[in-house]
Amino acid sequence: MRLLVCGGAGFIGSTFARQRVHEHDDEVTVLDKLTYAGREENLHDLVDDARFRFIRGAIEDREAVAAAIEAGAPEAIVNFAAETHVDRSIAEPDAFVSTHALGTYVLLEAAREHQLRYLQVSTDEVYGSIAEGTFTEESPLAPSSPYSATKAGADLLVQSYFHTYGLSALICRGSNNYGPYQYPEKLIPLMILNALHGDSLPVYGDGMQVRNWIHASDFAAAIGHVLEQGNAGELYNAGGPDEEANLTVVRRIVALTGASESQIEHVTDRPGHDRRYSLSSQKLRALGWSPRVRFEEGLERTVAWYRENSWWWEPIRSGEYRAYYERQYGRSLS
Ligand code: NAD
Ligand code: DAU
Repeated sequence: MRLLVCGGAGFIGSTFARQRVHEHDDEVTVLDKLTYAGREENLHDLVDDARFRFIRGAIEDREAVAAAIEAGAPEAIVNFAAETHVDRSIAEPDAFVSTHALGTYVLLEAAREHQLRYLQVSTDEVYGSIAEGTFTEESPLAPSSPYSATKAGADLLVQSYFHTYGLSALICRGSNNYGPYQYPEKLIPLMILNALHGDSLPVYGDGMQVRNWIHASDFAAAIGHVLEQGNAGELYNAGGPDEEANLTVVRRIVALTGASESQIEHVTDRPGHDRRYSLSSQKLRALGWSPRVRFEEGLERTVAWYRENSWWWEPIRSGEYRAYYERQYGRSLS
């Protein structure tokens, strides 16, 4: 296939681009604005590949989108481009509204004009929190944060393009991803790097919030599977095989890094914090996808990757991230 991968310089988008080129021999054009979270380094092993092309641009910029379509002549658009950190959406929601609402709209219009298949990458957070049981594709939308509310709005717009214009549009909603190349604002890489540096490990509230962890390679494969096998107009959940409380995850990271449990510090809880996410992937499993990486093994591999790839995170830890960390946590990194 020839694909336009928007947001392909981010954590999951770059995992997907790598998988499609290396394992499926696809031709991939990445369109990415390169926000603080988007990094060309994430695509370092693709830049010299003839099947790969990188274009810097925003999805809400019609001209940039048109240029990317002209350059890559894609058969499908896969949209990962998003602002993705819940805490930043609470502090500064502006970019979440423009990228998720306007950006998705511009891409949908381009897909309609060129009659392309369109896949929107979405999140289990659109369903809100669930005390018991699991969310299915039929569960109502009940987002809690500006992040999840704007992602839910984008999903509704995507569905409207199927119903109104017959666009071949699909949605794939994932649970919490982890793995290599994840920006360290997110729980797992933040805790790994703080543990390795002897910094404190800031657990929000009691740390008993539960997340349904999926390795990014499994979520990327799920998206590829939906793109190839999914029915137009439908949405598919892709949840990980394991659920864990945050405090359990942090304690495992402490053990894997040889840090000390005394580094764990309970800090003020996130406003509107969802207590538990849990996603049923029965529908996508029936299409032949299933996650391969169990959390225990994936976490061990992820810790090893961060240990071995300081070239990747050192520039981040000494750049914008330091200032963000001070604003968010009221203290400095070592
Ligand atoms: P990320 O923050 O690592 O990457 C986002 C990418 O989008 C970056 O490369 C950034 O530069 C780019 N981007 C942002 N705004 C843009 C714009 N206006 N135009 C073009 N590019 C723009 O995020 P991620 O964790 O890889 O998430 C990718 C997608 O997967 C998002 O849509 C997110 O909602 C979804 N998702 C993430 C998770 C998770 O746990 N990380 C789980 C489920 C779904
Ligand atoms: O569920 C899918 C979603 O997972 C994605 O859509 C989002 O893009 C992604 O950021 C992620 O959202 P979360 O809010 O669940 O991830 P985060 O890594 O920010 O936090 C995971 C849990 O850990 C959450 O309960 C908050 C908690 N936490 C997080 C940080 C950064 C802490 O206790 N301390 C922290 O410092």
